[in-house]
Amino acid sequence: SISLNCSGFHGPAEWRVIKKLGLNSTQWETSTRTLYIKPAFKSHSGEYWCEKEDGEKSSTVNITITSGDVILEIPAFPVMEGDNIALGCKKKTIPSSLAADFYKDGHYLETGYVGKITIPNISKSNEGLYKCIFTESQGKSPESWLTVGGE
Ligand SMILES: *[C@@H]1O[C@H](CO)[C@@H](O)[C@H](O)[C@H]1NC(C)=O
Ligand SMILES: *[C@@H]1O[C@H](CO)[C@@H](O)[C@H](O)[C@H]1NC(C)=O
Ligand SMILES: *[C@@H]1O[C@H](CO)[C@@H](O)[C@H](O)[C@H]1NC(C)=O
Ligand SMILES: *[C@@H]1O[C@H](CO)[C@@H](O)[C@H](O)[C@H]1NC(C)=O
Repeated sequence: SISLNCSGFHGPAEWRVIKKLGLNSTQWETSTRTLYIKPAFKSHSGEYWCEKEDGEKSSTVNITITSGDVILEIPAFPVMEGDNIALGCKKKTIPSSLAADFYKDGHYLETGYVGKITIPNISKSNEGLYKCIFTESQGKSPESWLTVGGE
């Protein structure tokens, strides 16, 4: 289960959670500031943000829901230039610290010998689609987008 909370906004105005459906189409998910998704299915994957009546918007988050066994742990929120970020490759069903290869935009990046890597000193060039593949057991994660900078 996941919850999306429009926090950090002040005043009595109504905030609602919006989901992007297509290029120009969005869907109003809830009229309150918290959206609960329980249980989560693949179809809940997508880009979400908070929006006020007057059109003011938060930055967006990308949520990827998979029915597979392998999960890439990656920040869902935009990260700032200069940050160090950790990526992890996990199996849903068993705790693991197996070696995993990490890829960015389809290109091999680095092997994490205990399923984790750190990307130091983030810059705009680190933005892109990441995935991980367990070296021994084949399982691979879906791709997730990393955003640098925010809006
Ligand atoms: C959402 O965030 C607000 C403000 O930070 C907090 O008061 C509230 O308890 C949160 N709600 C949930 C369901 O996490
Ligand atoms: C999306 O909106 C833009 C500008 O409003 C328009 O030019 C474009 O054709 C629209 N695209 C679709 C798929 O409706
Ligand atoms: C979400 O993913 C799309 C590509 O799938 C990307 O264009 C967009 O910038 C991403 N947004 C965030 C906040 O990561
Ligand atoms: C981080 O990267 C910036 C430019 O990309 C560079 O100027 C700076 O020295 C780097 N910092 C560290 C601690 O490596």
